[in-house]
Order: sequence, then structure tokens, then C-alpha cells
Amino acid sequence: MEINGQTAVYGIIGNPIKHTSSPAIHNHISQAMGIDSVYVPFVANDDLEAITTGLYALGVRGINVTVPYKSDIMKYLRGNEDMAGRIGAVNTLKYTEGGYYGYNTDILGLKRELEEENISLQGRDIVILGAGGAARAVAFLCASVKPGSITIINRSGDKARRIRDDIAAYADSEGMSGLSSNINVLTSDEVCSVNGNDLIVFQCTSVGLSPGDDECVMNDEAFYSKVAVGVDLIYKPSVTGFMKYVEKAGGRAYNGLKMLIYQAVSAYEIWNDVLVPEAVIREVERKLK
Ligand code: ATR
Repeated sequence: MEINGQTAVYGIIGNPIKHTSSPAIHNHISQAMGIDSVYVPFVANDDLEAITTGLYALGVRGINVTVPYKSDIMKYLRGNEDMAGRIGAVNTLKYTEGGYYGYNTDILGLKRELEEENISLQGRDIVILGAGGAARAVAFLCASVKPGSITIINRSGDKARRIRDDIAAYADSEGMSGLSSNINVLTSDEVCSVNGNDLIVFQCTSVGLSPGDDECVMNDEAFYSKVAVGVDLIYKPSVTGFMKYVEKAGGRAYNGLKMLIYQAVSAYEIWNDVLVPEAVIREVERKLK
């Protein structure tokens, strides 16, 4: 990579940021596609107004935003895409006239992964484990594709109920009659009463994240006998405790690596107005594995 006076600058802000894989993904794509740009990590502090103003003044073309700033940054944007607004979180900012514009490519990334794996959520019974920021984004994606039911299970019930109420209001506003009465909140102890026998489950808690490798937020083996597909948003370790449960019970299990790659690819495509070739995406995947 050769940096010159015309190299476009992109980056990621968050805190902590030192473990991020995003620079490796973005710089690999630029190199493979011969696009003159560079992507760097920025450790942020809480002064998001100064950060967005400063990055914009310097002409930084695009910014990814990670924990803990995905929601707080929104008030400094020119606007945001509809779904990002509903979720209340952005992870991708694009330089536009008048300010940065926000997107949620976490959701676009997960959607693209599900399409690639031929997993359709329409009409299906879905379980979401967790009710933090990631779970909230997944819940909106699920609600947008007319599932049969959504069940949210979380340690803190109030957070789960807030997501339920928000996605139910969204489903009603989109005219998905019937969905809002099929959005439920359960505790782990009530999991035996979950809807359906062919479940698609999204593991959205931080339990099982390395170094807690074999831990899992849900340890009820009877539950896993009802699971057809399990998607863990965690990608380190590559096989999580949750995935082991799913596979042991005969279901298909996926980790969060593809979602990570596709959120980056979607951001790259939004910023550069290009399509990243399949071969380059596969190279990135091999590099990260
Ligand atoms: P993210 O942005 O990655 O979603 P988060 O908003 O901090 O992160 O959410 C973390 C999720 O993991 C929450 O659902 C949290 O449960 P609470 O809402 O009850 O806090 C869940 N979580 C984290 N540690 C947990 C643990 N030891 N047991 C059960 N759930 C846990």
C-alpha cells in the first residue's frame, strides 16, 4: 500500500479499539481492488461532537463506529437510514455534503449472510438470546422479514420487554398484522414453552466470548432439540459453547465471522459505490480464519 497526497482516509472509532479486525479487512479490499484508500483505528473519548466535527473537517470519507458509541454518535449526524434510526444505532458513517450520514451495516451484513446460507426467516419461529445493542438490531432485522414469531430471552427482563414493545410497534406500523401478538419475552427457566419445533436462534449475548470459550447463556439441552439453525454473533472462539450445543442436537450452527466480514463489505460498498467481488470476500475470509 502506497499512501500519497490523494489517498482517501477511512477509519474506525471506539474504545477499546486495539482488537479490531476492521483495518485488516478494509485495507485488504482496497489493495485487492486497486482503490487508493487507507483505513485506520482511532481510540475515541466521549467527546463525540468534537470527534465528528474534526473528522469531517479533515475530510475523512467514512467512519465505522463501534462500542460504546453506536447510539450516542447519532445526534451529530446529518441524518440516517430508516432502519438505523429505528434500531437507534449506527456503525457506518458516510461523508456527505452537510455532514456524516449514518447506516447500520451490522444488520445489512447479517441479512447478506443469511441469504448466502439460504436461511429464510419468513414465517419461522425465531429466538433471540440477549437484549443488548446487538440483540436489538437482530430483533429489528427479524421483525422486518415477517417471521412467524419472535421470542426474546434475557437475564434482564425489562430490556427484553423494551425491545419487544419497539419491534411490535414497528411491525404494526408496517402493517404486519398478527406479528405483534407473536412477539414474546421469556426467562431462561421458561424456555420449554417457546413457540415452535424448528427454531432459528440468534445468540446475541457476550457469554462465550473468548476467554470464556465454553460458556453458554442457555444450557437446557431440551431446548436445543428444537433448534434447526443457531447463529452466534461471537466469532472468537470460532466454535462457541452455543454452537456446540446446537450441533450436538443435530442443528446447523454458524459463528459471527461472516456477519463481521459482510458488515465491513457493506460499509465498503456504501462508501466507494462499488461491489466487492466474491473472490476478494473469500480472500478476506481466509485471512481472518
Ligand atoms: P452488545 O452491544 O454486544 O449487544 P450489550 O449491550 O452490553 O452488548 O449486551 C450484552 C448482552 O449479554 C445483554 O443481553 C446481557 O444481559 P443483560 O441485559 O441482562 O445485562 C447479556 N449478558 C452479558 N453477560 C451475561 C451473563 N453473565 N449472563 C447472562 N447474560 C449476560
